[in-house]
Amino acid sequence: MYLYHFGLTELPFTLTPNTVFYVGLEPHNEALAVLLTALKTGEGFIKVVGEVGTGKTLLCRKLLNEIPEHFVTAYIPNPYLKPDELRRAVAVELGVKQAQRISVQLLTQRIQQRLLELHSEGHSVVLILDEAQALPEESLEALRLFTNLETETRKLLQVVLFAQPELDTRLATTKFRQLKQRITFSYRLRPMTTLEVQHYIQHRLQVAGYKGAALFSRALTKKVAKVSQGIPRLVNVLCHKMLMLSYGQGQYQLTNQHLSAAIKDTESTESSSSLKWYISIGVVGIAIVIGYLIKNYGVIV
Ligand SMILES: Nc1ncnc2c1ncn2[C@@H]1O[C@H](COP(=O)(O)OP(=O)(O)O)[C@@H](O)[C@H]1O
Ligand SMILES: [Mg+2]
Repeated sequence: MYLYHFGLTELPFTLTPNTVFYVGLEPHNEALAVLLTALKTGEGFIKVVGEVGTGKTLLCRKLLNEIPEHFVTAYIPNPYLKPDELRRAVAVELGVKQAQRISVQLLTQRIQQRLLELHSEGHSVVLILDEAQALPEESLEALRLFTNLETETRKLLQVVLFAQPELDTRLATTKFRQLKQRITFSYRLRPMTTLEVQHYIQHRLQVAGYKGAALFSRALTKKVAKVSQGIPRLVNVLCHKMLMLSYGQGQYQLTNQHLSAAIKDTESTESSSSLKWYISIGVVGIAIVIGYLIKNYGVIV
């Protein structure tokens, strides 16, 4: 790899949401501030929405790191779970004893008991779900019922949802109007501006140990911002490929050619996957026609 070539200690543009690489950009800082402030109110049902690759999972991890100590968190990274599975996952996260074994009926009761226990110990409990757009309908409803659990003065459980914009489309339907009304705070992550992309690239390189001369000219950064549409994950993909190409040519400076090649490489992966899609559709189509011919005309092909 290019670590030695560029004098890096780590890869600067990996796709893992690693909080060490966190760049304090306006959208992410604002979202974090909204989350922490809302959770302090004790009535938080918070939603953070953002397109794929805008930094939701990173933010989720950042929140888990920065949340004050008296909070107990239940973190569900992949909520493609049926209501009972969701309940069980929450119970496990909250440390309900024998959560994997007890019956479904007992589960809700035990969760409630555990919440009261934590509450009496001075804790606030937050359920954090990443990829919340993937929650099945009934589980969204189960989630709403969870937030009914309260004492006379306080909610026993606050909820934070990180989701792609599809969640908003679902919440806009009448079926989910009750859940929608519960949401007390929302934040929508926007893409990065050109200036933010510049700061983002420099900061990640710096964290990865880069100490040399500027690798990306201002004009080049501007192009990266345009092509990536300010989506952090796409910036990472492009920058990583550009560094690989430049290393392959023994060069220390990144150029427009590297960017063009990186774009081409990225596009070609996309178009080859859509090609596979068209081929599979074609195969299915042919199979249907053959089936029809055999059934109706007894044709054996
Ligand atoms: N503010 C930020 N600082 C540093 N890296 C970021 C930031 N926002 C996003 N990233 C990076 O972009 C990539 C995609 O982020 P991720 O959280 O996986 O997006 P999402 O969950 O919205 O699809 C990750 O590598 C992540 O580390
Ligand atoms: Mg994610």
